[in-house]
Amino acid sequence: MCGIVGYIGQRDSVPIILDSLARLEYRGYDSAGIAVINEQGLRGSKSVGKLARLVSLLHDDPLHGSIGLGHTRWATHGRPNDVNAHPHLDCSGSIAVVHNGIIENYAELRERLKAQGHRFVSETDTEVISHLIESHDKGDVVEAVRRTLAELRGAFGLGVISSKDPSRLIFARNGASPLIVGVGENEMFVASDIPALLQYTRETVVIQEGEMVVVGSDGYKLTSFEGAPIERKALRITWNAAQAEKSGYKHFMLKEIFEQPSVVKETLAGRIDEDYDVRLEPELGSIDDELLRSISKICITGCGTAYHAGMVGMYLLRSLVGLPVEMELASEFRYGDPVVDPATLVLAISQSGETADTIEAAKIAKGRGATLLGVCNVVGSHLTRLDDGTLYTRGGPEIGVAATKTYTAQVTAMILAALHLARVRGTVPPQRLREIARATSLLPAAVDVVLNESDRIKRIARTMSEAQSVLFLGRYINYPTALEGALKLKEISYIHAEGYAAGEMKHGPIALLDRRTPVVAVVTSGHVREKILSNVAEAKAREAPIICVAHADDADVADIADEIIPVPRVDPLLAPIVNVAPLQLLAYHIADFKGCDVDQPRNLAKTVTVE
Ligand code: G6P
Repeated sequence: MCGIVGYIGQRDSVPIILDSLARLEYRGYDSAGIAVINEQGLRGSKSVGKLARLVSLLHDDPLHGSIGLGHTRWATHGRPNDVNAHPHLDCSGSIAVVHNGIIENYAELRERLKAQGHRFVSETDTEVISHLIESHDKGDVVEAVRRTLAELRGAFGLGVISSKDPSRLIFARNGASPLIVGVGENEMFVASDIPALLQYTRETVVIQEGEMVVVGSDGYKLTSFEGAPIERKALRITWNAAQAEKSGYKHFMLKEIFEQPSVVKETLAGRIDEDYDVRLEPELGSIDDELLRSISKICITGCGTAYHAGMVGMYLLRSLVGLPVEMELASEFRYGDPVVDPATLVLAISQSGETADTIEAAKIAKGRGATLLGVCNVVGSHLTRLDDGTLYTRGGPEIGVAATKTYTAQVTAMILAALHLARVRGTVPPQRLREIARATSLLPAAVDVVLNESDRIKRIARTMSEAQSVLFLGRYINYPTALEGALKLKEISYIHAEGYAAGEMKHGPIALLDRRTPVVAVVTSGHVREKILSNVAEAKAREAPIICVAHADDADVADIADEIIPVPRVDPLLAPIVNVAPLQLLAYHIADFKGCDVDQPRNLAKTVTVE
C-alpha cells in the first residue's frame, strides 16, 4: 500500500526521504514522488515505476530543501502513471499533499471545486485534498487543513506542506492508515511504517484515528481534528535498524525464513516458567483467568497468512480447551452476521495490526460485547489499541511481502494461547500441558534442523519451477500448512497453486492431476498420517510427481514419494511450525529460479489498509 514519509530539520530532506521511501518499498507500490520547500518555493518530482527511476530523475535535476514529503503510491483511483503519482498540488503550486487510503466523497468534492474554478490534472481522489485546502486557506494552513478534514469522508492518512508556511509539516489520520512521528534532535521524521524511521530514531509517537499532528523541527503538536490538544509521550521501540537489513542474504525473505528459530525463541521468552507452565496473565490486560473461565465460545479471524495461523490455533484450542472454535476470514466476518456475544473470546490475528478488514472485524466483535484478544507484531498499532489484551508476536520487522517468520511467530502465539487457556480452565491434565510446553521450548532447534535442508529443497525447486500448477495437501492441523505453502508459492512465483484438505481432493482437484502437476503433501506423524498416505496414493495413481514433507525414517512415505523433504518428529500438535519451513523454502527457491521479484511480488502489498 502507499508509503508516506516526511522530514523537517537542519539537514537536506531529499536523501533522507529517498532512503526512507526505499525502506517502505517492500510494502508494494507503483510510483513514487517527493516535494520539498526551499528558497524557490515548493519544488517536486515524481515518476511511475520503481523508486530508482525517481532517484535517477533527481540525479539529473537535483532538489534540495530542509522540509519535505515523500510518497510511494499503490494505485486505487487512477492508473499508475507520472501524473497520478503523489504529491498532488493545488492550483497555485504552493500546497503539496501525499495520501494513503481512499477519499470516498472525492467525486462530489471535485465537481464542487471545479465549479469554483479549480483545475485538476490527475485522475486521483487525492487531488481534491490539495484544492480543498487551497479553497479554505485564509492565511493559516493548519486551520485550512482542519476545515478540509471536516469535509473528507473515508479512511486516510495524509501529509501536507505549504510554501506559505515552510516551518511545519501537517499530518492527519482517519482509519487504518498508519502514521508515526519519529522524534530526533532538532529534526523530526514522519512515516507510515516503522522500518522507514529506524535509521534515524527509535523514539516514536503513533498517530491514532481522528488525530492531526503539526510537526516542526523542534517538536510536534498533537490534536483531534477539531483542535483539542492531546498529550502523548514518545515510545521507544525495541526494533533496530540492523533487523531491517538483508545482512548478506540475497533476499529479505530468505533472511526472514532463516530467522525463524530465533523468532520462535523470542516469542516464547518469559512465557513458559521453570515448571513448564505457560503464564500469559501479565500481558493479557483485562483478559484475566476469571474471564477466560467464563467464555463459552472462541472466534478467530484474520487475513492471508494470519488467517492460516489462526486455523492452526483453531485445531489447538479445540484439542486442548474443548470449546467451540469458529474461524472466519476477517473480510467475511465483517459482513457475515457473526454470532458473537459477551461470552465469546475473539482472537484477531494481524502482523501489522493495521489490516483494514481485520480492524473492522475486531470493531464489530467489540461492538457486540465480545472480549477481544489481539495477536500482533507491531507495538502500538491499531489493533493493539482496540483489543482488551495483546499477545505480541516478537518477530521484529518483516520486510519481505510474503510473511514467513511472522507466521511462525503467530503459530507460536497460538500454542501459547491454547496452553494458557487449557491451564486456566483445567481442560487437560497439567502433566500433559507441561509435556507440550517442554516440547514447544525445543521447537527452535527443530526448525533449525529443517533449515539445514535448504540445498535439497533447492534441488527439488529447480524441477518444480517448470510447473504450471501445484497442489498442496494436508489434513487436520497441517491443512493450514498446505494452505500456507500454496499461498507462498503463488504469491512469489506466480505459479498457480492450491492448498487442499487431502480428504477433499477427490471431490474436485484430482481432476487436475497428471504427470506435470506436482503434489506436495505434508505427511507427518499423528492420527491422520495413514489417511493422508491414502490420499497421496490416489494422487500417485494419477501419475502426479509426489513431494512429501515427512520423517526420514517413514518407510511408507519412501515407497510412494518421488522426493522427501525430511522434518524432525515433534508432538503432532506442534508440527505446523516445523512443517511450514520447507514449504517456505520451496516457494522461495522456485521463485528465485524463475527470476521473480521475491521481496516485492507484483500487485501485492505488505499491509492492506483498504477494504
Ligand atoms: C497482506 C500481506 C500478507 C499478510 C496479510 C495480512 O496480504 O501480503 O503477508 O498475511 O496482508 O496482514 P496482517 O498484517 O494483518 O497480518
